[in-house]
Amino acid sequence: MNWGMKNRISRIIKPKSGHCVMLAVDHGYFQGPTTGLSNLGRTVEPLLPYADALMITRGAIRNWIDPAVDIPIILRVSGGQSVLKELSNEIITTCIDDAIRINATAITCSVYVGGEFEKETIQNLSKLVDDGEEYGIPVLAVTAVGKDMVRDARYLALASRICVEIGAHIVKTYYTEDFGKVVEACRNVPVVIAGGKKLPEMDALKMAFNAVSDGAVGVDMGRNIFQSDSPVGMIRAVRAIVHENKTVDEAYAIYNQTKS
Ligand code: R5P
Repeated sequence: MNWGMKNRISRIIKPKSGHCVMLAVDHGYFQGPTTGLSNLGRTVEPLLPYADALMITRGAIRNWIDPAVDIPIILRVSGGQSVLKELSNEIITTCIDDAIRINATAITCSVYVGGEFEKETIQNLSKLVDDGEEYGIPVLAVTAVGKDMVRDARYLALASRICVEIGAHIVKTYYTEDFGKVVEACRNVPVVIAGGKKLPEMDALKMAFNAVSDGAVGVDMGRNIFQSDSPVGMIRAVRAIVHENKTVDEAYAIYNQTKS
């Protein structure tokens, strides 16, 4: 791995703890004005001091994020479908030149293993890895699940390992029972979990705690932060688990204190 690639990864996965809290706000690329992100700039602004990286599309960043912001950008560069149609039918929407213009620290796409357009989404990842390797920009692969996929450890390990074999530098997947098997399938490649649909805050914190205990380097969480009744409280609580080894109860207390 070249110096630039290592440097960019260490801007996201903090060397001090070996962990990271990514804030995902890229949902609009296939969901439109997602609950909590209608005014994306206003939602994100108070959360930035607590996030290690921001996962976002080029349209959102150009329209709603101050270019003077000091946070690594994980640029969502795949899309081309919507919730109204087959989700796996993705293309690369943003070329590497534009990612470099934006000063992206990493680029990301989804891979739909078992989906109708499985091969095309693996091709997308493959193209990003080729481009990323050329310019020293790491690629985060998201193991997206179509409507019919079972989110168990066997499936997620299969999907995650394929992403690693194609060359992803970080894998984002879903938490499940036996999550250690998913991490093990990726060997030395860092794994983060998505938050998924909004859960009660305590449950989301338990999920983050269990994922990190099972070997994830952190989270790439969206709805469970920005759809909370206290988004700042939630991201601070998640951060306490991921970076400071706090227990779920300690983190929940942080959420509650911040909320009140
Ligand atoms: C989905 O493919 C997107 O990358 C989302 O941003 C991602 O799944 C993380 O968001 P959430 O924690 O809301 O699931």
